[in-house]
Amino acid sequence: MNTTSPTECKAWAQLAHHAESWRTVHLADLFANDPARAQKFSVAAAGLRYDFSRQRAGAMTLRLLAHLAEQRGLPEWRSALLKGEVVNDTEHRPAWHTALRAGAFAPPEVSETLGRVKRLAEELRSGKRFKRIVNLGTGGSDLGPRLLADALGDGTLEVRFAANVDPADLARALEGAEPDSTLFIVVSKTFTTQETMANAAAAKAWGARHFYAVSSNVEAARRFGAAEVLPMWDWVGGRFSVWSAVGLAAACALGPERFQALLDGAFEVDRHFAEAPAERNIPVLMALLGVWNTNFLQCATQVVLPYSNALRLLPAYLQQLEMESNGKRVDRAGREVGYATAPVLWGSEGTVSQHSFHQLLHQGTQAVPADFFDFGLDEKLSANCIAQADALAFGTSDPALPPHRQYPGNRPSSLFRFEGVTPANVGRLIALYEHKVFVQGVIWNINSFDQWGVELGKQLASRILSKGQ
Ligand code: F6P
Repeated sequence: MNTTSPTECKAWAQLAHHAESWRTVHLADLFANDPARAQKFSVAAAGLRYDFSRQRAGAMTLRLLAHLAEQRGLPEWRSALLKGEVVNDTEHRPAWHTALRAGAFAPPEVSETLGRVKRLAEELRSGKRFKRIVNLGTGGSDLGPRLLADALGDGTLEVRFAANVDPADLARALEGAEPDSTLFIVVSKTFTTQETMANAAAAKAWGARHFYAVSSNVEAARRFGAAEVLPMWDWVGGRFSVWSAVGLAAACALGPERFQALLDGAFEVDRHFAEAPAERNIPVLMALLGVWNTNFLQCATQVVLPYSNALRLLPAYLQQLEMESNGKRVDRAGREVGYATAPVLWGSEGTVSQHSFHQLLHQGTQAVPADFFDFGLDEKLSANCIAQADALAFGTSDPALPPHRQYPGNRPSSLFRFEGVTPANVGRLIALYEHKVFVQGVIWNINSFDQWGVELGKQLASRILSKGQ
């Protein structure tokens, strides 16, 4: 598989040259000159509509980006990912999260564990024994289930989360709880993460008697005293693990049928990713347009704007997914890359964000590519979402207005349109970003599935702790 530098690809040089011709092109003119632009630069597939007509890109840009993907060996890499071959070369592992939602095509241990997750969730939801579930985990062992419970929980069971080593976090999760009626799910792939172990110990000190665990370190979880230990596997990365038993707290919040609907939505995207040609493949387009914005239009950050209060935690989830995966400075061959990799991802729920940082989006000195998500939940919400994308793209050049009231426009964005915040749609959305991250890793020649950058701080903190400073 291709592990040369992307800058050695013919398409990279062609894109650099092509970018020059975009310096003077304004999105307002593109739309004025081509009334079919919105239609041409949209793809409806896998249960959503992806409208990238407000990106500063044209047919030639897409063709060159598709060539780049081809020259980087994307088809071979994609097939290796989806077959569960080793794509995480620093840890010699597959990254086979797609197997977790493959239904009838899933390996037996996956189906068996999913069956256990659903049975336990059903028991816990229908039983009277536990009034509260508290998920103790951090990073990928927290952000996914937390997002799902917050966005899609139906209130049958109270599900809370504690991730921070700051005791205030656990204290908050335990407010009003009783040890007898509280079940803790300790989620840690390694079962060594300081924050999670500290919170699990603090829960015991509080009087907790009921623990389940999700871990690939089954022995350690048993020794800790978990009554049920559900497995995780080496071939699933933490930030890609929400579909596994890591999602148990989410399954408790959603119910087993809706948890399955989440997996089915993701599976639909997996098939689309596997089969659609690059120029009609939504996650491939997301990735390639991201590369275009980052490497050729020099955008250093990107903003995600779900127009949904239920999805207010989406930016935090995507931050880990993108920045822990692609925040890398050496390539697969160990060479320092000479080009930008993951941009800083940030965001918030719309419309709240409009009254906070959109000022910078519209009139700041840097263009921040935006992903807008409209779920058709409410007329006002959708109108605002589309209005913001239009204002960024077209701006206003009314000469009667003073400079401080001018909007330059020409700021790129994509608009994702889903029907409702449903489990299937949230599954689709997360799977889209997972594949986007992978494709960008392929283009940038980096391993998206390790995270060595987090280790030094952990070691230093232990050293500082042991010295008692
Ligand atoms: O420190 C980073 C990290 O390793 C993440 O990659 C991971 O999701 C998180 O910590 C939690 O790890 P674990 O599930 O092993 O406790």
